[in-house]
Amino acid sequence: MKVVVVGSKGMLAQDLIPMIAKEHETLSFDKNRLDITDKKSVFDLVGRIEPDLVINCAAYNQVDQAETNREAAFRVNAYGVQQLAIACQEFGSALCHFSTDYVFDGKNTLPYQPYDQPNPISVYGASKRAGEVFVQSILNRYYLIRTSSLYGKGGNNFVYTILRLAKENEVLRVVQDQMMSPTCTVNLAQGVVKLISSGNFGVYHLTDRTAPPATAPPATARPARHSPEAKPTRPPRLSESDGGQVADGHERAGRHEQAGGGISWFEFAKEILKMKGFPNEVEPTTSQEFIRPARRPAYSVLDTTLFTLCSGYEPIPWQESLKRFIDRT
Ligand SMILES: NC(=O)c1ccc[n+]([C@@H]2O[C@H](COP(=O)([O-])OP(=O)(O)OC[C@H]3O[C@@H](n4cnc5c(N)ncnc54)[C@H](OP(=O)(O)O)[C@@H]3O)[C@@H](O)[C@H]2O)c1
Repeated sequence: MKVVVVGSKGMLAQDLIPMIAKEHETLSFDKNRLDITDKKSVFDLVGRIEPDLVINCAAYNQVDQAETNREAAFRVNAYGVQQLAIACQEFGSALCHFSTDYVFDGKNTLPYQPYDQPNPISVYGASKRAGEVFVQSILNRYYLIRTSSLYGKGGNNFVYTILRLAKENEVLRVVQDQMMSPTCTVNLAQGVVKLISSGNFGVYHLTDRTAPPATAPPATARPARHSPEAKPTRPPRLSESDGGQVADGHERAGRHEQAGGGISWFEFAKEILKMKGFPNEVEPTTSQEFIRPARRPAYSVLDTTLFTLCSGYEPIPWQESLKRFIDRT
């Protein structure tokens, strides 16, 4: 296939491009070479190259800043995606686009399915949802892949933030009331390479594995429902990859892990430091203690079953993924 990757300087793109290039003729464009919000440039490029597939790694990911810069978030995540979608439809290219767990409101108690109803609770989430709707309403052939809490060597991320903070502070306080599935960009890229070779277009979820495998016996614990008063206000983040923090304690976290997976940022931070052999103490805290501009979903674990079924890619356990990353860091 002839593949065009846009947003090529992003964290995911940096792992994805070399993998795609091993199997396909690959042309990549960073923001300087293609601004996806520049309609004419998008049409000129897609029309000139006529790729079989465009992979959109471009995004506005500043979750907190989006609350006060709504226009910037929607310009890239909605309007820019719309231009790519129209150009792809016009010139016969399929589009692979990425979205986020933040399109959901976090009220679920079991992992979200690709067909569950989004209900974003932040401007960033709304802008990404708008992009999804454009992709789905304009294109016949697309892969729309929602993922979560990315970390990779090509960008700022929660792992690097924790390691940096650990050098500056003996005790770290990390939120415990947001359940998610951290995902290494290397694994996401491997899954994407498989999916785009399958021709199985559609909406998918792909993260590293925090839930028991689909074949495991059903969990015995019935998950607790989130009470409205437990809904957190989230602490600030520089970008989506920088992570979030959470709110109401060990008990709920344990139930989720048993029932449907997910870990808290607190658990993730503890594991990062343990694997790196850092002695810092990590204290759990709540998102109510750290008021951040953007709200984050309290529970945003994504079910990856359909991705595996349609691509053949099996997500690996989050600890294994983190270990591989830490060993390379
Ligand atoms: N990071 C996460 O935790 C996370 C979680 C869930 C979903 N996702 C989604 O996964 C995808 C990849 O995320 P990522 O973390 O790899 O993103 P990233 O590192 O923030 O990279 C995004 C890239 O897009 C570029 N860009 C911004 N505006 C552009 C424009 N108008 N035209 C062309 N390029 C533009 C950025 O350039 P500049 O930096 O120069 O602006 C940057 O190189 C995104 O769709 C994101 O929404 C990410």
